[in-house]
Amino acid sequence: MDESSWDALRQAATKVRARAYAPYSGFVVGAAIQTKSGAVFTGCNVENASYGATICAERVAMAAAVAAGERELMALAISTKAERPTPPCGICRQCLAELAPSLSIRSYAGGTHAGYDLSSLLPDAFGRDQLE
Ligand code: THU
Repeated sequence: MDESSWDALRQAATKVRARAYAPYSGFVVGAAIQTKSGAVFTGCNVENASYGATICAERVAMAAAVAAGERELMALAISTKAERPTPPCGICRQCLAELAPSLSIRSYAGGTHAGYDLSSLLPDAFGRDQLE
């Protein structure tokens, strides 16, 4: 991923963040995933009155990619209004690892970003290999 691709992904994540449905936490999140084909899929967090039913932005973006027939995830950008960049939650780490165990991730907030490799965020992940 070159810097111009990351910038496009950051912009897509920030744009979709405006659609977040977060009446309970007020913590709005946008996510954008670029797949191997170059296509970009976006998602925002969708909260629920039954709090545990909330879906994070990252998983919405991943589901959008899969529903479009794309499974080769190359990069993920996260955008929040937090003071500092925030890493993806544990459930999202597990979900993303299903398709892209070494996914390249950047989280943008407060005019800066943090970079992560999913394999560092979720070492020794449980995966399909353990089911065989
Ligand atoms: N959230 C995300 O969408 N992505 C993250 O990486 C962290 C948390 C959402 C879930 C919930 O709607 C709100 O942020 C507060 O946890």
